[in-house]
Amino acid sequence: MKLSVYHTPELIPAESLPHTAVVIDVLRATTTIATALNFGAEAVATYSSIENLIQEGRSWPDNKRLLAGERGGSKVPGCDLGNSPLEFSSEQMKDKRLFISTTNGTRAIESVGRATNVLAAAFVNHKATIKYLLEKNPESVWLVGSGWEGTYSLEDTALAGALAKSLLENGKVPISIENDEVLASVALYSQWKDNLLELFHQASHGKRLLRLGGEQDLKYCASLDIIDTLPIQKESGVFVKLAP
Ligand code: MLT
Repeated sequence: MKLSVYHTPELIPAESLPHTAVVIDVLRATTTIATALNFGAEAVATYSSIENLIQEGRSWPDNKRLLAGERGGSKVPGCDLGNSPLEFSSEQMKDKRLFISTTNGTRAIESVGRATNVLAAAFVNHKATIKYLLEKNPESVWLVGSGWEGTYSLEDTALAGALAKSLLENGKVPISIENDEVLASVALYSQWKDNLLELFHQASHGKRLLRLGGEQDLKYCASLDIIDTLPIQKESGVFVKLAP
């Protein structure tokens, strides 16, 4: 497996795509997508544009859909939900399609949407992601952070490091390190692995969410391996739970 890490979608090479792209937006889009599917959502449809989200979401039957929109960390007026995984429940999600647009995460998904496989990873489903990658052993894997409007985000690169470290230490599947960011992300994760919540408190988007009252969101997003759900792209921008 050839492994690369990109801190933001802007840094991915033009004109090339991996076999498998793992999109990371720890705070909070990929955590939220995994949580929605874990609560029984039928699928999660992702959009970089709020206008497309509203237009396509409203074309779906009323009782079968939920619209979630976030900009700058806050809920977008006119949507049912924002981007907090703590707003979700199984009663509300069961068999519904979640239509979601967020500031950076859904844009990152779009940037690698044409890879053969696209996964959504977070700390909450880190183990499920590793299990899939080691079982499938794709020829090339990119771990892509969403960052914030073109800049690097500590929490996304920390998860890239956690995933890279687990892959490099697996002992079975040979891993080829394709760029320096792989080792840089492992170094970042190794420094903070016992104190992820503190890292989130120091990260710029973590601080933004704290200003908006998101302390519990940070705690949830820092929880390792609490769900076994791996979101995988089924058709353009639409994620489903990987069948067991
Ligand atoms: C994003 O896509 O930038 C985020 O997921 C922001 C957030 O809602 O925390």
